[in-house]
Amino acid sequence: MQTYYDRRAREYDDWVYGTGLFADRDRPDWHEERSRLEQAVAKLPAVRSLDVGCGTGWLTQRLQGEVMGLDASEGMIAIAQERIPGATFVVGDALDLPFEDGAFDRVFTGHFYGHLEEDDRQRFLTEARRVAHELVVVDSALRNDVDAEERQERVLTDGSRWEVFKRYFTPEGLAEELGSGRVLHSGRWFVMVSSVA
Ligand SMILES: C[S@@+](CC[C@H](N)C(=O)[O-])C[C@H]1O[C@@H](n2cnc3c(N)ncnc32)[C@H](O)[C@@H]1O
Repeated sequence: MQTYYDRRAREYDDWVYGTGLFADRDRPDWHEERSRLEQAVAKLPAVRSLDVGCGTGWLTQRLQGEVMGLDASEGMIAIAQERIPGATFVVGDALDLPFEDGAFDRVFTGHFYGHLEEDDRQRFLTEARRVAHELVVVDSALRNDVDAEERQERVLTDGSRWEVFKRYFTPEGLAEELGSGRVLHSGRWFVMVSSVA
């Protein structure tokens, strides 16, 4: 997954904003719901947040308060840092967070959790709980045209092909999986759940 996303860094926002390879995708109400999701992220209380797997920072930029972004990809981090000069960014591993216990109030993570297989999922949850008492997960909503768990072939503009593990969530399922979860956004494309340890 890490090599794939590093190679995808410069074209990642095409998925977000419907450009490049995503210009012709039929995604009803995508932009309207993306905007609602961004507003919901902006409404989260302004605390010390760590955005794990922050990517290009399209959601990171909505977080209020003291914000740090972490990603394994230098290419992603470079784009995020340029986009959000007021935040701090670090290249690092989500499964071995380079921070002390309780260093943050919140771990926020968008479209990262759903790429983790069982062992890595438990490692990530343990690390997230160690560094913050709140975990907010944004991920892809379960739809009729996808399975809850898939191995997908992804193609980049250079023609390279990659296999990616991907899960889709109902809001209730994600809330239950994280434990004591509160649903903050539920739509056709996205879910957002907050879980406090
Ligand atoms: C699907 S992107 C999500 C980007 C953004 N947060 C969003 O909501 O669209 C997943 C991100 O996780 C990063 N990533 C993958 N494995 C990682 C790891 N072990 N540690 C940190 N970041 C990782 C990738 O580089 C990529 O930027």
